[in-house]
Order: sequence, then structure tokens, then C-alpha cells
Amino acid sequence: MRSTFNFTVMGNLAGLIFALASLAVSSTLATSSRPHVILILADDYGFHDIGYHGSKIKTPVLDKLAGEGVKLEKYYVQPICTPTRSQLMTGRYQIHTGLQHSVIHPWVPNSLPLDETTLPQKLKEYGYATHMVGKWHLGFYKEECVPHKRGFDSFFGYYNGQEDYLTHIRAGGFDFRDNDNLATNYNNTYSSFVFAEHAKKVILGHNKSQPLFLYIPFQAVHAPLEAPASYIEPYKTIFPANKSRQIYAGMAACMDEAIGNITATLKSTGLYDNSVIIFSTDNGGIIQQGGNNWPLRGWKNTLWEGGVRAVGFVHSPLLPKQVLGTVNHQLIHVSDWFPTIVEGLAKGDTKGTKPLDGYNVWPCISENKASPRNEILHNIDPLTVIHQGKRWKNSTFDVRVRAALRSGDWKILTGVYGSVNWIAPPSSGIVPFYPNVVKDQVVFLFNITADPNEYNDLSGKYPEVVDSMLEKLANYNKTAVPCVYPLPDPKSDPRFHGGVWGPWR
Ligand SMILES: *[C@@H]1O[C@H](CO)[C@@H](O)[C@H](O)[C@H]1NC(C)=O
Ligand SMILES: *[C@@H]1O[C@H](CO)[C@@H](O)[C@H](O)[C@H]1NC(C)=O
Ligand SMILES: *[C@@H]1O[C@H](CO)[C@@H](O)[C@H](O)[C@H]1NC(C)=O
Ligand SMILES: *[C@@H]1O[C@H](CO)[C@@H](O)[C@H](O)[C@H]1NC(C)=O
Repeated sequence: MRSTFNFTVMGNLAGLIFALASLAVSSTLATSSRPHVILILADDYGFHDIGYHGSKIKTPVLDKLAGEGVKLEKYYVQPICTPTRSQLMTGRYQIHTGLQHSVIHPWVPNSLPLDETTLPQKLKEYGYATHMVGKWHLGFYKEECVPHKRGFDSFFGYYNGQEDYLTHIRAGGFDFRDNDNLATNYNNTYSSFVFAEHAKKVILGHNKSQPLFLYIPFQAVHAPLEAPASYIEPYKTIFPANKSRQIYAGMAACMDEAIGNITATLKSTGLYDNSVIIFSTDNGGIIQQGGNNWPLRGWKNTLWEGGVRAVGFVHSPLLPKQVLGTVNHQLIHVSDWFPTIVEGLAKGDTKGTKPLDGYNVWPCISENKASPRNEILHNIDPLTVIHQGKRWKNSTFDVRVRAALRSGDWKILTGVYGSVNWIAPPSSGIVPFYPNVVKDQVVFLFNITADPNEYNDLSGKYPEVVDSMLEKLANYNKTAVPCVYPLPDPKSDPRFHGGVWGPWR
């Protein structure tokens, strides 16, 4: 059914063949079983740190999967862990879930709001088996908040982030679960091995006649910097002067291998033939912890491109041949996966959810159609405010509040200092260029299409564009719910719960 023509030399015929091939694929999806969806999330994985972005870190598995699939190169996530995961699970911006600020720390009574419909909940309506292997980071203070009560049939992994990779302890509390049971049999086993093994077990135990949703949010390559020695070894000569980078590279290499193992199991069971594999990072890399986002500006926890522009791709034998091996330059955001997976892949609808901020971008990925998205609200965080900053004349939006918005070619950032700069990859020999920054400046405007690395602030040159972007921000802000960021609860302390992090209310 699939054309083997070289469509690049076929001129107008290409469009027709393309359309026919897409039709064939859509009808395959509609009439036969729904595809399996394998959603893999890396943690703190920097924009530069994948082989095909020119990194010296070798990621042969990811390179091959991406190279045979569709690389997403205008793809955005949120700048830190909980926010990205919250949008992945709900398709909704943080201003609409109350999670505008920071992450959910282990000791706070907070979670993804219980009245949100999650992606696995929705997929269960369409007959999916739903399993999660990896890091949750969306709250666990009450029983109702944990992943296997939020739509996953099974959960294996961490409630929090930043555990030790071997002891699975975070801040004095053990944090490794197999559903409600403590997963105590994995002491001294590095989490990427455990997750790969467990994901394989899920795949092997899955009845092929049912569609599978398998969510694998790896712990790697988040700090603490830990990797098995054999994975670090090759990088001692590649990054001789930078130990953090050596270990980080080992962490990425091990994750890459784990994904290879999972993919091999998908193939050996035959699930692969009807699978869509989505890979994404959750945010930019941390420079001090070995990550790198070159050539982008900034890093994790900033709204500069280095915090939010992400590594991501889709790999699937179900994709039309015409898009295989292509680079997609459509604007896509992490909130888009919810409707994309539900409508585009599971052929369902999003009725019953709260209003979504994401779009179904499956036509954009699988047929290179124009993205329905022209804007991304990167965030408005009412609790991060620069007090000494100057206000913008006449604006109803308080520019001392940390916020960023992308609209068409424009990107505005408010409530940030400009001192955040560009860090070249270690051992690259590149000397970055640092422009001068005006003291106390808190508003920045970029033509992000022309200047993707945010070198040239245009806020002084185009004040009327700043005005209109601020008006848009003010309008988004009118739809915001109050930010929920409770104080730590001493009752959460693992010492009161047998040395374990777990629901305490
Ligand atoms: C895990 O292994 C470490 C290092 O071998 C050891 O110190 C620790 O007591 C072990 N933890 C448990 C819960 O057995
Ligand atoms: C798989 O599911 C189908 C449909 O529910 C059922 O008929 C079949 O017996 C199941 N196979 C196994 C091995 O459980
Ligand atoms: C490693 O490189 C990063 C920049 O990517 C830098 O911040 C860090 O200080 C370097 N570490 C050492 C030990 O040179
Ligand atoms: C991948 O599978 C091989 C073969 O079973 C195993 O030796 C290796 O440790 C696995 N790697 C990871 C990261 O799971």
C-alpha cells in the first residue's frame, strides 16, 4: 500500500501520493486495533546532549529511532519537572491547574488537582491498558494522588524526583514502589536498568489484542550525577577536563541503551508493528550538573530557550513513508500530547476534560500539515517576582512577574534578568559571545524565528510589539486560577513512616 516512489523527484504527484498514503494509514488506524503508545520522557536532558544535535555524547539508539522517524525541532516543554509532567498528563497550562510555581517538593501537601482528567484515565475509555514505569513527581500526599489511582493500571517507580540512583532514597526517605508495595529488591541496582527490565516485563505480559499505553519517565539524566563505571569510562577521554560531563554522558549512554532494550522487546513481541514511540525531555539541562543546551540561551528553570526548547521525536512504523527521516519545524508543545494521543492516535475525543490548552498535532507530525498552534504560554508564575525591576509604562501586566509568551515570530520574557547566557559544550573549543545587558532590565523581546538563540533584544526597538504581547499576557492571566503552593507539612517526614515517602494525609 505504501508508495516506494522517490517523491522528491515526482513534483506535483508527490502531494497526491502523500495524501493517498496518509488516507491508507488513517483507515488502518480506524479499522484495526488502536496503536500502542510508548511515551518516553528523559529528565533534565539538555538540548545539545543528543547525538543528532552534534553532541559528543553517543546516543546511537535515540539517533536511529529519531532518524527513522520524525524529529521535532520546534518543540517546547516547560522549564522544570512537575510543570512539564502536569501538562503531559492533562493537556492544560499551569495557570489552569494551580501549578504555576516551582515543583511539588516531597514534603508539601500538593498534587495534580484531583478534578483533572489524566491522559491514562482518558485512554482507558478507549480500551487501553495503562502502565507507568518511572518518576511521577505529581504529588502523593493522599492515597488518591498516586499514579495508580490517577489512571494507571500499574505503577513502578518514584513518587518524587532526585533520588539516589542506587539506594532509591530521597532526602532521608525510601522512594521506590511497585504499586503500593515498597520495591526493596533493587538496592544497588541503577534505576535505568530497573526501569528497562520492568518496562520489558510490562510489554512481555501484555495481551496484544488490547492497546497499550506505556509511560516511561526515566530518572536519567537528572542529578545526582551517578552512572555505572563502564558507561562513564569512554567519556574520560572525550571530556578530560570535566568530571560532571563525563558522568552525565554515562547516564545518557545508559538511558540510550535502556531505550534500545525496550524497543527490542517491542519488536520481539510484535507490538512494535502497531506502536507509536514518542520521546521527549522534560526540560533543559542543568549546566552545573553536566547538561548542555548549546546553542540556546539559558538552562533548566529559566524561560529562555535553553529551558524550554526541547529534544523530542516520534518513531513509528505507522507513520507515512513520506515523513520518515524528516525534520519537523512546526510549533509543538508538551500540552499537545494529550489531545494528540487521545484524538490523533486512539481515535477518541476529549469530551469530559476541562478546557484543553493543547492541540491535536498528529496531522502536523504525520503529514507535515501546518500546526494549529500559533502561541505558547510558557508560563506566568505569580510567586516569582523581581521587586527591584522597572514597570513597563501603561501596561496592565506586571512585568516584574516571571512570565514568557511565544506568539508567532515573537517571544516576550518578563520578570527575568538578562544575565543568563550561553554555555558552550565542554571540550568543544567554542567561545560563546555574551552581549551587554542593561541593568535592571526585566522585559525582553525577541524575534525568535530570526533569532532562535535570543541574542538581540528588540524591546527598545519595537515597544508597540511589547505592548501587544503584554496585553496578550494580561488576557491569559485573567484565566489563571490561584497558584497552589502550600507550606511544608512536618507530618510528611519519612521518620514518621518507617523511613519511607508515602501518603500521609
Ligand atoms: C543498600 O546498600 C547500601 C550500600 O551497599 C547499604 O549501605 C544500605 O544499607 C542498603 N540499604 C538497604 C535498605 O538494604
Ligand atoms: C487476550 O485478550 C483476548 C480478548 O480479550 C482474549 O480473547 C484472549 O484470550 C487473551 N489472550 C490471553 C493470552 O490472555
Ligand atoms: C564543566 O563544564 C560546565 C559548563 O558546561 C562548567 O559549568 C563546570 O564548571 C565545568 N566543570 C569543571 C570541573 O570544569
Ligand atoms: C540491555 O540488555 C542487555 C542484554 O540483556 C543487558 O546486558 C544490559 O544491561 C541492558 N541495559 C540496560 C541499560 O538496561
